[in-house]
Amino acid sequence: MDTLQFFLFIFQLLLCLNPISAVDFLFNSFTGITNTTNVTLIADALVDSSVVRMTNDSNQYSFGRAFYPKKVTIKKPFPSSSSSSNFSSFSASFVFSILPQIPTSPGFGLAFVLCNTTSPPGALASQYFGLFTNATSPPLFPLLAVEFDTGQNPEFGDPDDNHLGIDLNNIVSKKTQSAGYYNSTGGFVPLRMRTGQNVHAWIDFDGETMQINVTVAPAGLPRPMKPTLSYTDPEMANYLSSDMFVGFSASKTNWIEEQRVLAWSFSTLGSARDINTTNLPAFQPTTSSSSLSGGAIAGIVLGCVAFVAILVSICYLWWRKKMKEQEEEIEDWELEYWPHRFSYDELRTATGEFRRENLLGSGGFGRVYRGMLQNKTEVAVKCVNHDSKQGVREFMAEISSMGRLQHKNLVQMRGWCRKGNELMLVYDFMPNGSLNKWVFDNPPKLLEWGRRRRVLVDVAEGLNYLHHGWDQVVIHRDIKSSNILLDSEMRGRLGDFGLAKLYQQGEVPNTTRVVGTLGYLATELATVAVPTSASDVYSFGVVLLEVACGRRPIETSAAEEEVVLIDWVRELYARGRMCDAADPRIEGEYEVGDMEMVLKLGLACCHPEPQRRPTMKEVVAVLVGDNVAEEPGKVLSDLVRGDGGGPEKEEETTALQGNLPD
Ligand SMILES: *[C@@H]1O[C@H](CO)[C@@H](O)[C@H](O)[C@H]1NC(C)=O
Ligand SMILES: *[C@@H]1O[C@H](CO)[C@@H](O)[C@H](O)[C@H]1NC(C)=O
Ligand SMILES: *[C@@H]1O[C@H](CO)[C@@H](O)[C@H](O)[C@H]1NC(C)=O
Ligand SMILES: *[C@@H]1O[C@H](CO)[C@@H](O)[C@H](O)[C@H]1NC(C)=O
Ligand SMILES: *[C@@H]1O[C@H](CO)[C@@H](O)[C@H](O)[C@H]1NC(C)=O
Ligand SMILES: *[C@@H]1O[C@H](CO)[C@@H](O)[C@H](O)[C@H]1NC(C)=O
Ligand SMILES: *[C@@H]1O[C@H](CO)[C@@H](O)[C@H](O)[C@H]1NC(C)=O
Ligand SMILES: *[C@@H]1O[C@H](CO)[C@@H](O)[C@H](O)[C@H]1NC(C)=O
Ligand SMILES: *[C@@H]1O[C@H](CO)[C@@H](O)[C@H](O)[C@H]1NC(C)=O
Repeated sequence: MDTLQFFLFIFQLLLCLNPISAVDFLFNSFTGITNTTNVTLIADALVDSSVVRMTNDSNQYSFGRAFYPKKVTIKKPFPSSSSSSNFSSFSASFVFSILPQIPTSPGFGLAFVLCNTTSPPGALASQYFGLFTNATSPPLFPLLAVEFDTGQNPEFGDPDDNHLGIDLNNIVSKKTQSAGYYNSTGGFVPLRMRTGQNVHAWIDFDGETMQINVTVAPAGLPRPMKPTLSYTDPEMANYLSSDMFVGFSASKTNWIEEQRVLAWSFSTLGSARDINTTNLPAFQPTTSSSSLSGGAIAGIVLGCVAFVAILVSICYLWWRKKMKEQEEEIEDWELEYWPHRFSYDELRTATGEFRRENLLGSGGFGRVYRGMLQNKTEVAVKCVNHDSKQGVREFMAEISSMGRLQHKNLVQMRGWCRKGNELMLVYDFMPNGSLNKWVFDNPPKLLEWGRRRRVLVDVAEGLNYLHHGWDQVVIHRDIKSSNILLDSEMRGRLGDFGLAKLYQQGEVPNTTRVVGTLGYLATELATVAVPTSASDVYSFGVVLLEVACGRRPIETSAAEEEVVLIDWVRELYARGRMCDAADPRIEGEYEVGDMEMVLKLGLACCHPEPQRRPTMKEVVAVLVGDNVAEEPGKVLSDLVRGDGGGPEKEEETTALQGNLPD
């Protein structure tokens, strides 16, 4: 053995004896903790008295990260002969609190992170924790995170809006588990993380078996024996590097969510030191009722003050109730919502003080006025009355998440305004009014078949977008020809989506109002009142029929067997004389095969069994004659045939397919 080898041997021996510098720390509080010396704060994270606040409420796309300033050795520098593992184990324990300003708003959560840098490249705010990119297949990169996710993003495979997940440099988790803990008898007790309550979390990683355990419980409870989530995967090795920062990351968008870390301990030597949870601060939702500064006033005067306070509050409440009619009050939560919030004055001016001449119509959901904004854009202002503010508020949360819906065949929402319990929704103005005015009765100018056909395709595409084009299925609930509007180019656009929901939540004004419109309501809604995308398909089927036949779904003045449009068309279909149902006023404008196809599609959509109706994807494929789609003709014949008495004709199917345009 020469000297060089000898020294190398000694060197390795020393490494084996003391291979890595251990890290072990405990912040039972962040009081007196300073940036860069004790923690490294990135972007919007800051130490706020005794806690770390991860995001800044005033920034729309806020994110923040907090790391221990020293890197931790995770992947050991040399394979050591004595130890069987190339990776260090670690243990972390921390207490966090997640408090939304609006409980029903979309949630974000926070993540515990190991990363080789404090600023991973391409990190995005909002639902990406200020940590991950939106790349569909992110590269191997030393970033391992445990998410405490308080929002549900189905596009990332989130099971619910309150879960834990193991993330390997990817927002799509490797494994998820609803938040909760196993109690002493092994029962699973769910734990809501988005209430502001202090949550105690433990994370243990074993570098030898490549296993990570995550446990959560309400702070103050002893540590549960069984972990909430346990994940073993050798693949994790690819996401760990020699030296890594450990810490937290969180982000948000429009909605305020206060993510705090209250205490934190970490160790590579064994179990992280215990956190004493007794004196941790507590964060509760702020209640809207303002109390008089209680502590300051004491002694004998307290009684008098309380009396005066009660008197004042009663007067105030009475005054407020009185003023509510006239005054527009803006509450904090309203400023959070997208799209744009108009002021009441702006809308009053735009509609000429809601003058009668500007009234475009009044229907199930309220009155609609035509208006001209200051920048000379024409809008339609829909005034919706609701007798509970809570309902309006919940609805706004819904609408603002739907505000992102954009499609050429949807009437675009421009903004909104609230005055008392009246909600005003501002939409693009549709100069040509609604479809029913062009088809039924004696329209000023009858819509010819070519245009009707195009409008039907437009609406089908719009509805297909609502059902399938978005990360969550949006059910329209009130498809009918008067909700289909025609823009300046006579193209069809679907309006009023989501409005029906307002009347489902909260109190319903006309006590027993059925949501939807008679004649368009799917049969199953009579028994089970849960609208589905299939019930939308049904209503769309009715629209197909009424547009092709040029008459309302229920025509009381018609001959007895013709009163209900669907029954009449079905009857004609059974007799093989379907085209007799077609609108006589447009005779000669259509090809018989095409008209038959539309009528059959209408019947298929109105199939009594919801599961046998086609999906909007299939409907669009049939209407535009998309041959790529799976045999539209087959879909049709299958579905129509299901109806009692329908003739079963294989030849007809082929004929139908032959007639479909290319
Ligand atoms: C913060 O850092 C300073 C300087 O290194 C150190 O003296 C102090 O003990 C640290 N505080 C805590 C709570 O770790
Ligand atoms: C903390 O220190 C880092 C590095 O010096 C700096 O980039 C960051 O802006 C600081 N954060 C705060 C909140 O002061
Ligand atoms: C939050 O961000 C705003 C605007 O960027 C800034 O003025 C404010 O100081 C920040 N708040 C805190 C607490 O850092
Ligand atoms: C540790 O790493 C070395 C070299 O990369 C490899 O040969 C060895 O198999 C690894 N040990 C374990 C336990 O994975
Ligand atoms: C982190 O890891 C990536 C990928 O392995 C590497 O390119 C980068 O240089 C590393 N950064 C640091 C600061 O070590
Ligand atoms: C990813 O985010 C960037 C920046 O926000 C954006 O420009 C890009 O369109 C996004 N890509 C995808 C696939 O969402
Ligand atoms: C444990 O949880 C289960 C299910 O939630 C419950 O039925 C049981 O009473 C709990 N046991 C204890 C000791 O709290
Ligand atoms: C994870 O939990 C399981 C079950 O309690 C336990 O057997 C295992 O040792 C734990 N692993 C780690 C890394 O703590
Ligand atoms: C936790 O802190 C409280 C007061 O701060 C103290 O009375 C108690 O003994 C501590 N508990 C432990 C286990 O150290």
